[in-house]
Amino acid sequence: MTGDPRPIGMFDSGFGGLTVARALIDLLPDEHLVYVGDTGRYPYGPRPQPEVRDFAHQITRHLVREHDVKLVIVACNTAAAAASVEELAEAHGVPVLGVIEPGVRALVSATRSGRVGVIGTVGTVGSGAYQQAVARTGAAVQLHCAACPGFVEFVERGQTDGDEVTVLAERLLAPIVQAKVDTLLLGCTHYPYLARVLSTVLGPDVVLVSSADETAFDVRARLLGGELARGSGGAARDPGEGPAFRRFLSSGDIGWFTDLGRRLLGPELASAEGVTWHD
Ligand code: DGL
Repeated sequence: MTGDPRPIGMFDSGFGGLTVARALIDLLPDEHLVYVGDTGRYPYGPRPQPEVRDFAHQITRHLVREHDVKLVIVACNTAAAAASVEELAEAHGVPVLGVIEPGVRALVSATRSGRVGVIGTVGTVGSGAYQQAVARTGAAVQLHCAACPGFVEFVERGQTDGDEVTVLAERLLAPIVQAKVDTLLLGCTHYPYLARVLSTVLGPDVVLVSSADETAFDVRARLLGGELARGSGGAARDPGEGPAFRRFLSSGDIGWFTDLGRRLLGPELASAEGVTWHD
C-alpha cells in the first residue's frame, strides 16, 4: 500500500490554526504536516479583504511550490472568507479545505433552541460568509453574529485569561448574551484558546463549538476518498515509512513562535523555522 506520502499544508495568520493542527495530529497521526503561521502580518481581521485574499494565495502558492503539499487547509476564517476554497484550489491545482463549512455543520447540529451565534473577526463577520453558509444549510435557525476585535491580539501575546480579556469579552459578547443563543460557534481559530473566559462570561447553558474537529474529519474524508492518505491511511502503515514529521513556519519572531506555539499546541511543536516569500 503506497498512498500519498506528501505532507498536508495549512496556514493561519498566527497561532490560531494550531487549534486545527491539534485536531488533525490527533485524528491523523501518520500524516506529515507543514504549518505556516503568518505572525509577521497578523492580525488579518482588520485588513481589507483583497489584501487578505492576496496573502491566502501567496501562502497557498508557497506551500505547493516549496513544500509539495498534497492538500491545503485554510485554518483561518478571515482568509477563508476573503478567498474561497474553490478559488484557491483552482488557482494552485491542489485540493483546499476551509473551516467555515465544517464549523457551520457542527453549529446547526448542536443547537436545540435554534438560536445560534457566531463570533469572528471584523473581516469574517463583515464578509457575510457565515450568514451565507448558515443559509445554505437550510436549517431553521436564528443567527446572531458579533465581531470581536482584540481577541486575536490577546492570544498572539499569550494572554488567554485574566481581567483584561474578561472585560473585553463581557463587552463584545453582550449582544450574544442578550440574544439568548444556546450554541455559539467560535468563528475564528484563535478563539478556542479563550474558551475558559468566554464560557465564564456566557454561562454554563451556552455550548461553545469550534470548527477544529469537524475540519479534521473533512480532511480525513478527503484523504481517504481521493487515495491521498499516507500509507494505508492509518490502518497498518508500513513501519519502514517512519514517523510523521511536523514543520512549523512563522513569518514573525521564530523564538516566540516556538515558545508560545509549544504552550498552545503541545510537544509536537519542537521548533519553528522562518519563511521567506518568493513573490
Ligand atoms: N485565526 C484567524 C481567523 O480564524 C484570525 C484572523 C486574524 O489574524 O485576525 O479568523
